Amino acid sequence: MVAERVRQVEISGIRKMFEAAPPNAINLGLGEPDFEPPKAVLDALCEAVRHGMNHYGPSAGLPPLREKIAERYRERDPETGRENVIVTGSGSEGLMAVALTLYDPGDEVLVPNPGFVLYPPHAKLAGARPVWYDLDEAKAYQPDFEQLERLVTSRTRVIVVNSPSNPTGSVFTEATVDRMISFAEEHDLTIVSDEVYEEMVYEGKFRSFWGRTDRAVIVNSFSKTLAMTGWRIGFLVAPRALAVELNKMHYHMMACPSTPAQAAVLAGLEDGGAATRAMVAEFRARRTLIAKGLAKIPGISVVPPAGAFYAFPNLDWPGTAQEIAGTLLQRGLISTPGDAFGPLGANHLRLSFAASRDNLRKGLGILRSVGAELGAS
Ligand SMILES: Cc1ncc(COP(=O)(O)O)c(C=O)c1O
Repeated sequence: MVAERVRQVEISGIRKMFEAAPPNAINLGLGEPDFEPPKAVLDALCEAVRHGMNHYGPSAGLPPLREKIAERYRERDPETGRENVIVTGSGSEGLMAVALTLYDPGDEVLVPNPGFVLYPPHAKLAGARPVWYDLDEAKAYQPDFEQLERLVTSRTRVIVVNSPSNPTGSVFTEATVDRMISFAEEHDLTIVSDEVYEEMVYEGKFRSFWGRTDRAVIVNSFSKTLAMTGWRIGFLVAPRALAVELNKMHYHMMACPSTPAQAAVLAGLEDGGAATRAMVAEFRARRTLIAKGLAKIPGISVVPPAGAFYAFPNLDWPGTAQEIAGTLLQRGLISTPGDAFGPLGANHLRLSFAASRDNLRKGLGILRSVGAELGAS
């Protein structure tokens, strides 16, 4: 029999849904860019594997890559050095290393509702209890600090935040970031800030937690920015003493991140972010297309996403999000039911705009006709 901790978690149900899709379905369910990595990155990977970079490397990552990441974070805190940086085998592995390093059995961890699917299971796998805090659509998906005050207990160790957010596309305001830091200080919490979508912002300004407080651990990844979700490279930025502990956990999880993939990432950072900016410019155009298109469909309201590549419309249609997603699937549109991200996601769908403009238009067409059939007004 397997351990109790494993019995407490499931593999996300979203995948099963994709398997039931008809051929040629329009896929707005993807959590990854529909782009290939920049050519320089592809070339550098081939170069690396052909020239012997096929062996173990340092557990915390290749020093030049750690240094390059630290350089970027020095703009936020001039004291940042490579000792603060750990290269991980993806943001997902970074999140799990953080959970195993910070949570003791019986601890409570505040997680966003709706929020990215890994936060609650990671807390459980570490023996902790995830506690939802609301991101309410009516408040533009900013946290409600009065509710947070009610939820915090003597067992609360960490609050997980994610701006720009998967699935809502919302971005924390400056006031939210400041208040979150005061809240964490007051209650002696660590802030785990998942900033994997930091470069994808269309409205307002991204604000990192790094350099504003010494209570934050930053989780980040090259999966989205370099369109290399299959390569599995991410990183953590943490205060030095904590970075030492995180690295221990990370070492025991994977020994070291992929050596050739790190070499390729390093090459990808040479362009100063130009390839990422070009991809984000396309996402920006698609974001306008989908936000405008959704707003015209009867029974749908949407907070235009300020970041990431997801729209999170609210559907005042008959049926649950699961049922509606099921109907859309039969009609050739793959979407993700909002309650996959927490109870407040009920009545919502997550629609990824990491899909061509043409497919977005077709997807909107399917939504419009299914809405009309369901009698939405
Ligand atoms: C909010 C958020 N955090 C972390 C990740 C993990 O990304 P990866 O493991 O590919 O680095 C994702 C991926 O979808 C995400 O949406």
